[in-house]
Amino acid sequence: MNCILITGGSSGIGLALTEACLERGMKVRSLSRRLPDVSHPGLDALSLDLADPDDVEENFAPWLASGPAPEAVVLNAGILGQLGNLAEVPLEDLEQTMRVNTWANKLLLDALLAGETPPAQVVAISSGAATQALHGFAGYALSKAALNMLIGLYAVEFPKTHFTSLAPGIIATPMQEELSDMPDRASYATLQTLHETRLAGGMRSAEDLALDLLEAFPRLLKGPSGQFADLRE
Ligand SMILES: NC(=O)c1ccc[n+]([C@@H]2O[C@H](COP(=O)([O-])OP(=O)(O)OC[C@H]3O[C@@H](n4cnc5c(N)ncnc54)[C@H](OP(=O)(O)O)[C@@H]3O)[C@@H](O)[C@H]2O)c1
Repeated sequence: MNCILITGGSSGIGLALTEACLERGMKVRSLSRRLPDVSHPGLDALSLDLADPDDVEENFAPWLASGPAPEAVVLNAGILGQLGNLAEVPLEDLEQTMRVNTWANKLLLDALLAGETPPAQVVAISSGAATQALHGFAGYALSKAALNMLIGLYAVEFPKTHFTSLAPGIIATPMQEELSDMPDRASYATLQTLHETRLAGGMRSAEDLALDLLEAFPRLLKGPSGQFADLRE
């Protein structure tokens, strides 16, 4: 693989994957609001707000056309949104979470798949929360469940590209700190467990995960397109 597009390359999993790809001599094209704190000639980064459909529609396609077409795309950018009881989360917050975690990926895929050289592989970073109703995950869980179906539908519509939605496991990143430091976490069993796991140093590093992802990508191509997979299984 020569060129990979990674969304959310400025932090956590996306940053570790960006660095691992650059170390292997790949060209990395990266999208996030902050630019990754990486200086490397192989990195081409665009500052883009995935919560703003106008920003995406105006600026993504021209930038994409200005460089090499990515052979693989990792739709990794994501936000937690408001955690807690779904009944208490305002619709505006759910809409914002859906815009970043789900709808932005539709806009990016539409531009990528309409191009002359569509990617051979798309991996969307999903979550175990997409398939289990974990108390407190609210809009995040909804957005990742919808992301899984979005990936399944694109797989049906675009058989020349291989699609996977992939849960990475529990990884020590800024998002995980936000999740496990929620002030009233004791009311939510999974959030409390995450907090204890993090304090006990039981979470994998994003750097370790990045190496596993690079090994997993070719393996995923051998399975059916459009499936949800958990990297831990
Ligand atoms: N860490 C875990 O244990 C875990 C478990 C399951 C799934 N995941 C998934 O893994 C992915 C990466 O998470 P992470 O843990 O690495 O979190 P992170 O460190 O918070 O990174 C999130 C990335 O998403 C980008 N992003 C957020 N909002 C954006 C926006 N409006 N426009 C553009 N980019 C935006 C951020 O960049 P900017 O802030 O610079 O915009 C950042 O690069 C997420 O999809 C998450 O749901 C993580």
